[in-house]
Amino acid sequence: MAGIARLFHSSIGRKFSMALTGLLLFGFLIGHLSGNLLIFKGQGPLNDYAAWLASLGPVLWVVRLVLLTIFATHIVLGVSLAKENRAARPERYAYESTVKATLPSRWMVRTGLLVLVYVVYHLAHFTFGIVQPAGHAMVDATGRPDVYGMVIHGFRNPVVTLSYVAFLAVLGFHLWHGLASFFQTMGLSHERYSRCVRALAHLVTWILILGYVAIPMAVLTGLVGKS
Ligand code: HEM
Repeated sequence: MAGIARLFHSSIGRKFSMALTGLLLFGFLIGHLSGNLLIFKGQGPLNDYAAWLASLGPVLWVVRLVLLTIFATHIVLGVSLAKENRAARPERYAYESTVKATLPSRWMVRTGLLVLVYVVYHLAHFTFGIVQPAGHAMVDATGRPDVYGMVIHGFRNPVVTLSYVAFLAVLGFHLWHGLASFFQTMGLSHERYSRCVRALAHLVTWILILGYVAIPMAVLTGLVGKS
């Protein structure tokens, strides 16, 4: 316990925890996308997957709780580190463009908080059924929750789809810088190959985001779920 408190008190400890929680969240995003892409295989495979997740019962709740703790830790540490950086640099630079910082790096807190808004909206949509209750109440021919039907119902609405695409673009900017910073914090970025590491981080980020964007766009354009 004392070790954890000491870790969070030092700046380097917080940066390390930030990188680690970010990596775990990135892992969740890869896992979540792999499950969601089953939509391209049809109603049966996606609903089977959702039913399997639900069948995990208490295990699923433990995973959800761990995920929530990681997410909250990442946000609290991010805001505290940004405040610390600001306090260490009270005078704003006269020419911000001269500072060696890319646009996404200066926008990490803002894009991060927008991602939080997106997650709350997304949970209200697909997990709690507050946004589109009719979609959430759908069941398939076997009487199971029709996750496939719910997603199709949701993304047939252009306003919903475009709001998802906009939020996913924000998430992309956040991950773009986040992943590159991860390598730097972990000391895995050497001057000689840092450009390579950055390029790889950007490539992985955009593949992930394009994978997510493909789902609402495929529904909206009728490529998936046409009846
Ligand atoms: C277009 C892309 C996405 C689709 C189609 C999608 C689909 C879904 C669905 C259907 C659920 C509910 C699962 C269920 O209750 O059976 C869900 C839950 C969730 N999604 Fe997404 N999602 C997408 C993108 C994202 C993104 C980008 C994030 C994170 C930034 C995210 C985070 C979550 C979380 C945290 C949950 C709750 C997990 C749980 O309760 O176990 N999703 N998503």
